[in-house]
Amino acid sequence: MNTKLFISIVLLSATTFFSCQTNTKNKQMTIDKTSVPAEKLDSLISVMTLDEKLSLIHASSSFTSGGVSRLGIPEIVMSDGPHGVRHEHGRGWYALEDADDKATYLPVGICLSSTWNKALGYDYGVVLGSEAKERGKNVILGPGVNIIRSPLNGRNFEYLSEDPFHAAAMAVGYVKGVQDQGTAACVKHFAANNQETDRHNIDAIVSKRALHEIYFPAFKAAVQDGGAWSIMGAYNKVNGQYTTHHEYLNNVVLKGEWGFDGVVISDWGSVKDTREALLFGTDIEMGTELLKSFSNPDYNDFYLAKHAKKMIEDGTIDESVIDEKVKRVLTLMYRSTALGNHSPGKRNVPEHQQLALKVAQEGLVLLKNDGLLPLDKKAIKTLAVIGHNATRLFAERGGSSQVKPLYEITPLEGIQKLVGDQVEIIFAEGYEPYYDESLFRGYASEVASQSRDNKKSTDLAKTANAKLLQEAIEVARSADAVIFVGGWIHGHDGMPWGEGTYDAEARDKLNLKLLFGQEELIQEINKVNKKTAVVLMGGSNVEMKNWLPETPAYLHAWYPGMEGGTAIAQVLFGDINPSGKLPVTFANSHEDYPSHAVGEFPGNKTVQYTEDIYVGYRYFDSKNIEVVFPFGFGLSYTNFDFSGLKLTQKDKKVFVECTLTNTGNRAGAEVAQVYVHQKVASVDRPVKELKGFEKVTLNPGESTTISIALDESAFSFYHPEKLVWILEPGLFEISVGSASNNLPLKGTVELTQ
Ligand code: BGC
Repeated sequence: MNTKLFISIVLLSATTFFSCQTNTKNKQMTIDKTSVPAEKLDSLISVMTLDEKLSLIHASSSFTSGGVSRLGIPEIVMSDGPHGVRHEHGRGWYALEDADDKATYLPVGICLSSTWNKALGYDYGVVLGSEAKERGKNVILGPGVNIIRSPLNGRNFEYLSEDPFHAAAMAVGYVKGVQDQGTAACVKHFAANNQETDRHNIDAIVSKRALHEIYFPAFKAAVQDGGAWSIMGAYNKVNGQYTTHHEYLNNVVLKGEWGFDGVVISDWGSVKDTREALLFGTDIEMGTELLKSFSNPDYNDFYLAKHAKKMIEDGTIDESVIDEKVKRVLTLMYRSTALGNHSPGKRNVPEHQQLALKVAQEGLVLLKNDGLLPLDKKAIKTLAVIGHNATRLFAERGGSSQVKPLYEITPLEGIQKLVGDQVEIIFAEGYEPYYDESLFRGYASEVASQSRDNKKSTDLAKTANAKLLQEAIEVARSADAVIFVGGWIHGHDGMPWGEGTYDAEARDKLNLKLLFGQEELIQEINKVNKKTAVVLMGGSNVEMKNWLPETPAYLHAWYPGMEGGTAIAQVLFGDINPSGKLPVTFANSHEDYPSHAVGEFPGNKTVQYTEDIYVGYRYFDSKNIEVVFPFGFGLSYTNFDFSGLKLTQKDKKVFVECTLTNTGNRAGAEVAQVYVHQKVASVDRPVKELKGFEKVTLNPGESTTISIALDESAFSFYHPEKLVWILEPGLFEISVGSASNNLPLKGTVELTQ
């Protein structure tokens, strides 16, 4: 065929194909997904100019990457974030006033993973995907699946777990849920992005074994089992190279070993080198200039714009490198709402709010109960609700994950609604949060350079506000019972971007000490009222030794989303039987954790992951170190019994079967957790590793058979010298129970090959 004719046919079909596409929210797309085979993409790429191709692989505004209007190819529209669709930015960075951008504020990632309910992970993804679609977004920047290595990381609330299997299991449902709506999930931040201090430059020095066994599995599962269409490269380096353009991470592992055919999107400003970005896996560069020339970015100045063009034109890099990226980008567009045929989305509908409630109900973790809970509203005339967090709003805080919610039920509102007129509630604020830079680290330079109202109140530092303390003690003394609501905060009123302190992006905590005089406050309340339930918010634990022994009940509530107050009240008063389990170990001090006791945190330029694969309970249990609340732990108002372990081998799998019985007198849910240990191995292996779990709900007296299949990955390890996964024949102990420290069923299997 004559070349000119061929090009015009391709152009015609491309224009017809793309012209029926719009990026307008709620518009039914007219093109059948199956009508665009890969070879059409090749034809399309063959008629694009170099400039057009380049426009597809870098940002065109704060949250879009470029399109090609000549060919009817729209921009890709992206949005944070992991627990709700973020407010509108327009093409700039600042929130648009008066935009119609309220969205469902879901419980944060760590609360979702505390449910240990994989089906809820999927439903959560559906809400996000649907709301993103309704808002005209093609990519949602979540889930955040980085392993929780230290309790001090300011972004732990966005992440899922200290355990790779658990994080992977929860991430897969989330990704599928989002993408079944036609929205691309962007799984972040690949990889070993485990701190905020010096986040743009820190170099994580970590072994290949730890990468494969601990830091990669959630990404691998999101790609291979969840089918993720995009991955976000991280800011940090790993073993000397920036992760966003890391030859081993992106080319060898992600796109090579795992067969990832999606798009690697940079974190905002994480591309640092044109050649590396071209060669080592970055497909779309976002955010770069926003950090340098914030108000007037020149998108042509991006690494993957004019600098890449120069390298192609002077022959340093072959244009096929760009073509490969463009093909990935078009594939994502075609799979998603950018170009694919998908149904319209929904936003702020009751079913999404119900899902937010359900995740909170199942994600709250009851850690201590000396019989005080559930509270009986008929037996209480006066209830003291004490603590600033009982009335604080969290949705629009914490950094890029912030959400503008339609509403947010605070704990005080939830409790008021539940008890109605039957109980008199007296509220006392008890303590006052304040902003003190000396109380956290890693204050990122991009934030520091902005003008801000930094109400530094060192005069209040580390002590209680005496007046509020006294008021609270009097209120507690006069009440029949007390609910104290405190813990961490994210955000400080008056900070730019609604970012803030403590549990927030771009900073890490200094230690786990309860702030703002809360420790003294809880101690004083406990002295005057023996019926005190403590509810703590936060993406991590706090030091507990000085207040927990005297406290009859403790519920950890994370940041439980727009219906969090409702769920907290329902759990405290027994309308809901708690079933959340910790996805991280709660030790007393940060110094107890392996990243601090053995490895380094936050390091200085480099951070040594000397603890290697011994993260979280893998370390505590292998070294016999006592913790306050172990991984997988969480109480219920009923009791469960595990019995009858049966291990059978068939078709290269081990089937773990047992009976789970609700032996108490109310319905409740329990998580059967399966841990594996290789008895004799040629390398060091942890005494237990989670390899399966299932959550079931049972009526009083009811029993069910749990059956969990373990494939060879459950028994394998990544060989530190051979650099491959290996299954060594031998004896493996299998333990089953309700928490990593409560595994009543034990058996052994022998694997021969
Ligand atoms: C964060 C990402 C986020 C991006 C866009 C970055 O600073 O690390 O998680 O998705 O900004 O807001």
